[in-house]
Amino acid sequence: MPKVTIIGAGQTGATTAHFLAQGGVADIVLFDIVDGMPQGKGLDLTEAMPVIGSDSKVIGSNDYAATEASDVVVITAGLPRKPGMSRDDLLEANTRIMRSAVEGSLQHSPGAIFVILTNPLDAMSYLAMKIGGLPRERVIGQAGILDSARMRAFVAMELGVSVQNIHCYVLGGHGDDMVPLTRHSNVAGVPLDEILSPDRLAAIVERTRKGGGEIVGLLKTGSAYYAPAAALAQMVEAILKDRHLVVPASVYLNGEYGEQGIFFGVPAQLGRKGLEKVIEYSLSEAEQQALEESAEHVRETIAALKY
Ligand SMILES: NC(=O)c1ccc[n+]([C@@H]2O[C@H](COP(=O)([O-])OP(=O)(O)OC[C@H]3O[C@@H](n4cnc5c(N)ncnc54)[C@H](O)[C@@H]3O)[C@@H](O)[C@H]2O)c1
Repeated sequence: MPKVTIIGAGQTGATTAHFLAQGGVADIVLFDIVDGMPQGKGLDLTEAMPVIGSDSKVIGSNDYAATEASDVVVITAGLPRKPGMSRDDLLEANTRIMRSAVEGSLQHSPGAIFVILTNPLDAMSYLAMKIGGLPRERVIGQAGILDSARMRAFVAMELGVSVQNIHCYVLGGHGDDMVPLTRHSNVAGVPLDEILSPDRLAAIVERTRKGGGEIVGLLKTGSAYYAPAAALAQMVEAILKDRHLVVPASVYLNGEYGEQGIFFGVPAQLGRKGLEKVIEYSLSEAEQQALEESAEHVRETIAALKY
């Protein structure tokens, strides 16, 4: 069985462990600084396995030694947003946490592939790569699967069509200026802008951009975790099973989409070595412009990093 470590056994971390264990994808180590909590969640999940019928082993620990020889390290450690906060407001506190998560896990798993969730996502992924001295193939940020899944769910609610027929592509930075590509998104092959009125489509785009904030506002404490965890589990499985799966994800750009030196949401092919390839869409002038604005925001957040 491959081994996956999840740093941060809070809402997203524990739910990711649940999805992965249920799928029998890997043995899992839940790591957290809170005494007893990851051990308790690990044991609880272990006791669910006989019912679920999965052979995944799940343990929790406060000691990085337990994460030894992990194939993939998922980092969810960090503060989540409170109502009224932007993801960028988390920058300073989460920088410290990210440093300890990357250094602690690299010490025991020098060959691991890192999948990052902690916000502000694009800046935290950049930080993980820099602190770890890692090649870009081994650091991938989760944002695009989630943002695209939200858009798919909203289109499904609007049209009453199976989510499986709905394909949406949300690119750019993981902030409220993310870029839902309506021309490339489709329902069973028919572009969204041919099915939905401009008003309805604009409303779905807006709700997608603010999708994280909508959940934060409803929960009042903490942020979304079921959909983010499902997205993480899909990425981990694509890597471990060498699926060559193309998903929207935040990766370090080397000139693709005209951007250099930032983590940014683009279609990325994932396999056993991590990032295999960035897929480049042909974009309209308006789409390219929207991406450039989003990239500018990410550049500013990365420039504000102190590490
Ligand atoms: N990229 C995305 O799409 C996305 C989606 C959801 C959440 N997030 C982000 O993920 C992060 C986690 O969210 P959550 O809902 O799981 O929060 P949470 O508060 O439920 O869990 C975070 C956990 O991290 C732990 N932690 C803190 N410092 C640590 C350290 N140094 N080492 C190890 N663990 C540590 C905490 O004890 C806590 O259990 C937040 O920054 C949130 O904004 C990102």
